[in-house]
Amino acid sequence: SLASSDHLRHVESMTQLPSGAGQISHLNAVILGEPLASEENDLVFPSHDFSRQALVSSPEQYWKMYKRSVEDPAGFWSEIASQFYWREKWYPEVYSENIDVSKGTVKFEWFKGARTNICYNAVDQNVEAGNGGKVAIYWEGNEPGDDGQLTYAELLEKVCQLANYLKHVGVQKGDAVVIYLPMLMELPITMLACARIGAVHSVVFAGFSAESLAQRIIDCKPKVVITCNAVKRGSKAIHLKEIVDSALVESVKNGVPVGLCLTFENQSAMKREDTKWTEGRDVWWQDVVPQFPTKCAVEWVDAEDPLFLLYTSGSTGKPKGVLHTAGGYMVYTATTFKYAFDYKPSDIYWCTADCGWITGHSYVTYGPLLNGATVVVFEGAPNYPDSGRCWDIVDKYKVTIFYTAPTLVRSLMREGNEYVTRYSRKSLRVLGSVGEPINPSAWRWFYNVVGDSWCPISDTWWQTETGGFMITPLPGAWPQKPGSATFPFFGVQPVIVDEKGNEIEGECSGYLCIKRSWPGAFRTLYGDHERYETTYFKPFAGYYFTGDGCSRDKDGYYWLTGRVDDVINVSGHRIGTAEVESALVSHPQCAEAAVVGVEHEIKGQGIYAFVTLVEGVPYSEELRKSLILIVRNQIGAFAAPDKIHWAPGLPKTRSGKIMRRILRKIASRQLDELGDTSTLADPSVVDQLIALRDC
Ligand code: PRX
Repeated sequence: SLASSDHLRHVESMTQLPSGAGQISHLNAVILGEPLASEENDLVFPSHDFSRQALVSSPEQYWKMYKRSVEDPAGFWSEIASQFYWREKWYPEVYSENIDVSKGTVKFEWFKGARTNICYNAVDQNVEAGNGGKVAIYWEGNEPGDDGQLTYAELLEKVCQLANYLKHVGVQKGDAVVIYLPMLMELPITMLACARIGAVHSVVFAGFSAESLAQRIIDCKPKVVITCNAVKRGSKAIHLKEIVDSALVESVKNGVPVGLCLTFENQSAMKREDTKWTEGRDVWWQDVVPQFPTKCAVEWVDAEDPLFLLYTSGSTGKPKGVLHTAGGYMVYTATTFKYAFDYKPSDIYWCTADCGWITGHSYVTYGPLLNGATVVVFEGAPNYPDSGRCWDIVDKYKVTIFYTAPTLVRSLMREGNEYVTRYSRKSLRVLGSVGEPINPSAWRWFYNVVGDSWCPISDTWWQTETGGFMITPLPGAWPQKPGSATFPFFGVQPVIVDEKGNEIEGECSGYLCIKRSWPGAFRTLYGDHERYETTYFKPFAGYYFTGDGCSRDKDGYYWLTGRVDDVINVSGHRIGTAEVESALVSHPQCAEAAVVGVEHEIKGQGIYAFVTLVEGVPYSEELRKSLILIVRNQIGAFAAPDKIHWAPGLPKTRSGKIMRRILRKIASRQLDELGDTSTLADPSVVDQLIALRDC
């Protein structure tokens, strides 16, 4: 049993809680000191030793801080914000908000009027505090043995050189810079250099195709695109620069010429001589950047000035440019990082996410560096040269906090314990999970095998839009339930609403919304504030709608149940069904397509596509491959459908609406749960689809 006598003693101390803690309805029995409804063996307690040293070591302490954070957000957050450097303080108030679309434009502002710089706080401040010699980044290359490191002082110099170069080529405050880089140290360096001069970075995950990259370039019109010639992932070299070349040709065709493509020569993957080059536009990083001075003045920006854009998928075809601003995001990512991972200055932290996604923004680059942490940046693949690579890296750098995605946990779990137990992993003390719900069996394997049954797991629920953690365990503060993200972070007020938008109390299931703003919230969708309001604030007036389903159990724990919109979560990557459909129908032989998510053992969800061909075109294996290829080319390999299901027709209502509910049931083989099909324009299509399911 997980409950040793030490644990049990701890349970006692954990259930003696403050009186009068009942005003906030979502707080649970753990917090209120009532007996827990859960069986003892549903709960996993942090050890007494862990809790004793934790930043938040009891439900009571959490409760006090949480209560304050929601009753007096201005006081709570301004106290925390005062620990950062502000050139000028905010005025006249800490924050202002309108979350209710029926009362006018939705607007959140935090620390408005204050001037700061996130790069200054993340890098210079650490050097000035005497930690210039501390390692900021350990870099581990694709090949074991290929590695490097940068101290905070060295990081500052590298950031300044690039910042000076960018200024030299005319990049100014407010200009967009698109970054298409793999996990080299140059990726966080580039983000920080942009932030230093007030330029708005837009990192595009280097697994996106040329078309997706072009779409993002056309939307934000950058002055510069920064990339490298190639990267090796596992034994395969990917020529990133060629992808950028095609994207840049495409963007010229769309009236967005980009005059400069700064290219880092990644020698271990590809030589300079072999790289295709466009004279006049392309410049080698190594030829110019090192010539610039290692000091660069900081551009002080307003807390509400844009920091970055990050495109993410929604339920319609066009990706959304999620915009985060400098001040609130800085305070929020730093604070969530510190508490959710119980960060201490001696920690060595590794997050396996790529900086191309929000997790890499908030919890590879900004959150950890703002805390002066030592961060591991890994270029390669977790199963190369074999499935023990992660634990090899953990032992090599003595990683103490390891943060990853359930899909990786599941895929390593399948390879067997041997790959894990071969390594010591003694340094580990906190584990983290993000991107999708973690199923209890994967949770337990992560906890028992990887963490040797003594590292708490922070299952952090959040989104590109939220900037940082929203619902997350604070390791050390309360018992965990495998698969539950537990309770809200400070300042976050989650509510569960029904179809009509009424808040539901107590034990329930429904749609997860947030009431009130928080400092890390996105402020708009780039160039489309109307879509921002329509997508997030109109579905349930008065709330931010997350797009996720959620339930709350008897003890008040939150359980995320997945997306309730047309977004699929594949290996923690958000993919809009409409994006995949639009790629499929661009194939000349495809007449119509409908895409649904289907449960997948490793990826969480897989992509299942129903495809109707143009009249007279026969099904063939070749055609199936070319349909998959068109999705890879238009979005990226990670969005390739797992299954193409030939569909002579699609189930539609008489008004022509595709009934996805039926398609989901057919895809998941729940044929006895098809429900009422009599409202379909042609009910016989269902039988045809069932007959063709194995073709
Ligand atoms: O469905 C939720 C799921 O991922 C979505 C957000 O995706 P994205 O913006 O790409 O950000 C991923 C990294 C934060 C959410 O709407 N999700 C994320 N974390 C969890 C999760 N679902 C359950 N549990 C989580 N810990």
